[in-house]
Amino acid sequence: MKRTYQETHHRSLADPEGFWGEAAEAVHWTKRWDKVLDDSDAPFYRWFTGGETNVCYNALDMHVAQGRGAQTALIYDSPVTGACEKITYAELTARTARFAGALAAQGVGRGDRVIIYMPMVPEAVIAMLACARIGAVHSVVFGGFASNELAVRIDDAKPVAVVAASCGIEPGRVVEYKPLLDRAIELAEHRPRVCVILQRPQARAEMIDGRDVDWHEAAAAAEDAECAPVAATDPLYILYTSGTTGAPKGVVRDTGGGIVALKWSMQNIYNAAPGEVYWAASDVGWVVGHSYIVYAPLFNGSATVLFEGKPVGTPDPGAFWRVISEHRVKVLFTAPTAFRAIKKEDPRGEYLKKHDISCLQSLFLAGERTDPDTLAWAKEKLGVPVIDHWWQTETGWAICSNCLGIEALPVRDGSPTKPAPGWQLEALDANGKPAARGDIGALVAKLPLPPGTFPTLWNARERHFDSYLKNFPGYYETGDAGYIDEDGYVFVMSRTDDVINVAGHRLSTGAIEEVLASHPDVAECAVMGVRDELKGELPLGCLVLNAGVSREHAGIVSEAVQLVREKIGPVAAFKLAAVVARLPKTRSGKILRGTMKKIADGEEWKMPATIDDPAILEEITGALRELGYPPKNGGQKK
Ligand code: COA
Ligand code: AMP
Repeated sequence: MKRTYQETHHRSLADPEGFWGEAAEAVHWTKRWDKVLDDSDAPFYRWFTGGETNVCYNALDMHVAQGRGAQTALIYDSPVTGACEKITYAELTARTARFAGALAAQGVGRGDRVIIYMPMVPEAVIAMLACARIGAVHSVVFGGFASNELAVRIDDAKPVAVVAASCGIEPGRVVEYKPLLDRAIELAEHRPRVCVILQRPQARAEMIDGRDVDWHEAAAAAEDAECAPVAATDPLYILYTSGTTGAPKGVVRDTGGGIVALKWSMQNIYNAAPGEVYWAASDVGWVVGHSYIVYAPLFNGSATVLFEGKPVGTPDPGAFWRVISEHRVKVLFTAPTAFRAIKKEDPRGEYLKKHDISCLQSLFLAGERTDPDTLAWAKEKLGVPVIDHWWQTETGWAICSNCLGIEALPVRDGSPTKPAPGWQLEALDANGKPAARGDIGALVAKLPLPPGTFPTLWNARERHFDSYLKNFPGYYETGDAGYIDEDGYVFVMSRTDDVINVAGHRLSTGAIEEVLASHPDVAECAVMGVRDELKGELPLGCLVLNAGVSREHAGIVSEAVQLVREKIGPVAAFKLAAVVARLPKTRSGKILRGTMKKIADGEEWKMPATIDDPAILEEITGALRELGYPPKNGGQKK
């Protein structure tokens, strides 16, 4: 008999070893685990210790061995190049085995790191799976990051090899990746031994003799590599994400727990069966791309869509509906910002009428809170359940969701529903005590976290402890604030740190401040996330100049904008900055970013009792108004 959500969730917490041990039976192991949950190093936990398996085998070879080789594994749909390709499980296995052989021939082995800097092309997926096949640890860097960010990741991960493409394609422009990579390697202290370059016809990369090798030549000369069994606790990948300081955190995903949780989630959360088409419209550079473009759908034997395009402009706001209809997509997963972009260009849904999307059964949204307008629009236009679910790079899969494969619960607007199995959540007050139902607190999850979540940060165990485990002993601190209502529905309201969310991309305002502060004319600065109708939030910087700087402010602002683009990358979307005489601070010197944000967002704000000079806020209000903030009606002082 099918269990209810309540029963399933209860069992997952009462008997985690039984629950996840059972889920692990669906995975192929070359050696069975000794222990499902290893708590010998608490508060750091490990799953399936003693077990051995291989991610690539579970994603590809296993399906071929079970007779599904002719089934579609990957659908590459690229409106920016006009390409559309369907790759079967057998073909994807063959291409991956060959590229794994090419990496091995370049000296890449178990535990070695490989940085992948590629756009949304099948070779990006093949490179990830090829690393997993030989037990190497990949670290994918999103193409919208600039050389400096890439260099920071090269120095932290110390890769033996980099796999990159000659270019990515953004609407209206070709982004040459190779010069960015060359510059990053120049900036970095660590030197990768080899760079494997995929030449795309839109831009040919200049190769550096003795270091760079051509993807196709390397593959043609190589032999196929077999899947190497690795420990369940071995890292599958490192994915860097924004933290509170400029230095990104290297989130590690382990092998065994990762396979078990992701495979389980496909049927239990998304209700997606093997053979069906599943589409996560994200990018392989983000955690959503790792988990739900690449690994989970392939573990599940689904067909996954790799879409190299945008929700609008490639060529129109009907792009998503075309892909759904042409490839018979059953489940779509994207960020609310994509739907806001479509809604803005086609509010009445005219483009929907041109496509038959009756195959679509559900839409899942994550990356930021789904605003009620977008939720209502999507529900009305698509006529399918629209599920907001909450997760993070660290967790690798949903903390809270409406688990459609277990039991569809009634949707509550503004809530990602209830904790997924394996998750026990609390909202804690500043004293670490449970907040009253409905009161906002720090959202924390009781340890141990379920399998598939991060066991550690790369080479930064202490930072892991300090960032997530120290403030609330016995819990994982999510960094999000929110509340839990009387019926157990969770509401995620804001971050408790300086992370902001721009078009579903996670950015650190601290990292942007570090770049701005490096401008020779800038004495100090403050960056905050201001509300934006399309992207959710946009970074806005207030700059205080060094004494004696008499240059035109406009020139300094445009240099500052350019500097962030060069140092962090276009993905930071940093275009708003104002020169101000001073920053508002408390008497102890803390910058009042929260109050400035309220003014910019047009929210009610109170004069902080601890402010050192109230007149500064009047100046800031004027400077923000000149930038067009708040967009309407002005900020109101209480
Ligand atoms: N390589 C190089 N540059 C990139 C890039 C990549 N892979 N991805 C984005 N950029 C650039 C963009 O071209 C843009 O540059 P510009 O300042 O010259 O215009 C800049 O980075 C900002 O990109 P983005 O925030 O994506 O804005 P956009 O205006 O291009 O598109 C949306 C807006 C809403 C359509 C887009 O963000 C989107 O599709 N979001 C979907 C959500 C998503 O994928 N979320 C990921 C987590 S689920
Ligand atoms: P990332 O690590 O890039 O996936 O970003 C994770 C952060 O995005 C979370 O900590 C939240 O702040 C935010 N987030 C993701 N999904 C949701 C959601 N459904 N509701 C509210 N915030 C979300």
